[in-house]
Amino acid sequence: MPTPDTHLAPVYAQWPLDVVDAEGVHLRTRDGRRILDLYGGHAVAALGYSHPRWQAALEQQARTLLFQSNAVPLEVRARAATRLAQFAGLGLDTVFFVNSGAEANENALKLALRITGRRKVVAIEGSFHGRTAAAGAVTWGAAQKWYGFPQAPFDVEFLPRGDLAAIERMVGTDTAAVIAEPVQGVAGAVDLGQPYLAALRARCSETCALLILDEVQSGMGRTGFPFAANMHGIAPDMLTTAKALGAGFPCAALLLADHVAAHLKTDDLGTTFGGGPLACAMIETVVDIIESEGLLGNVRRLAQQIRETCVVGPVVATQGAGFLTGLRTRRPAKDVQRELLERDILTGTSADPNVVRILAPYVLDESHIVQLRDTLASLPA
Ligand SMILES: Cc1ncc(COP(=O)(O)O)c(C=O)c1O
Repeated sequence: MPTPDTHLAPVYAQWPLDVVDAEGVHLRTRDGRRILDLYGGHAVAALGYSHPRWQAALEQQARTLLFQSNAVPLEVRARAATRLAQFAGLGLDTVFFVNSGAEANENALKLALRITGRRKVVAIEGSFHGRTAAAGAVTWGAAQKWYGFPQAPFDVEFLPRGDLAAIERMVGTDTAAVIAEPVQGVAGAVDLGQPYLAALRARCSETCALLILDEVQSGMGRTGFPFAANMHGIAPDMLTTAKALGAGFPCAALLLADHVAAHLKTDDLGTTFGGGPLACAMIETVVDIIESEGLLGNVRRLAQQIRETCVVGPVVATQGAGFLTGLRTRRPAKDVQRELLERDILTGTSADPNVVRILAPYVLDESHIVQLRDTLASLPA
């Protein structure tokens, strides 16, 4: 174990893992263990580690132009926006680059409130949208656990999952926006499902509320589709994404439909680091690698293999989509996660005490799923 560093804020529970480097889909520890990483640093390491094209692109951009602000037009930034909008294919053709998922949501919510002139936002039970003032206000349970601000910056109501009648009741002409993760991540890989999302879309259109899909965790190929919105055939008014967007380079984006972007004028939004050349080069490269290596198909195929083979040992069912999969466990998920880690497989837990979360790199192969299945089968049921 590393010696405790008293200069770091003591805010994270940490796993007993002393990682020194990583290659492909494996982490290597100081004591020489090789750990299969099915968690990818909270869904970030979508291309695994040391991907040669990712590394080369970062190096190349660092040599060419390390940084310039948004006051300076850059080809690489324009290319990244076009590439991302085309990859999404959802008619969200205006891109605002930011730094983190929370910041993307913060801007989306601000826009919705300003454009509609309304003051209520509807979120979904179980949601996680980030730690900042607006994103935290629409995060389920934050107020009780860590929110910290004296009040939310707008009115918030939470919709029960799966309750179509509640959508009619709670989303009305007083609602600025509905914000939803189409496949909830922190909640434990919970797919809200096509009918529910379609009902949200329809009700938002009816009431002129804006639908914001938070695809910070579910997006950028994680479900085996560019976004879960594509998987379910839902076109939001705004979409936020981060995590896998840079596959390890910190960055995020807010994608806007034309009718939302039409409200924007100079100085409405801003950021220093968002849309920097390094981030943009990596976004362009990540999309390119996902497309050229056929990684969406790989995710779909291997996720199917998980569903078909991994209901063994303590696992009673699977849920979620693609590589945002939950293994529902008979025993506490934290025990199963610990036992897997002791056997050199890293997975995550979630807010659901009986769900082990898989957020694997898209470059996995069949043998890794076999290893997961065999290891799960060796654990006490
Ligand atoms: C769905 C979702 N939205 C937003 C966030 C916040 O993103 P960030 O930590 O980059 O601010 C997260 C982080 O886990 C997330 O899963």
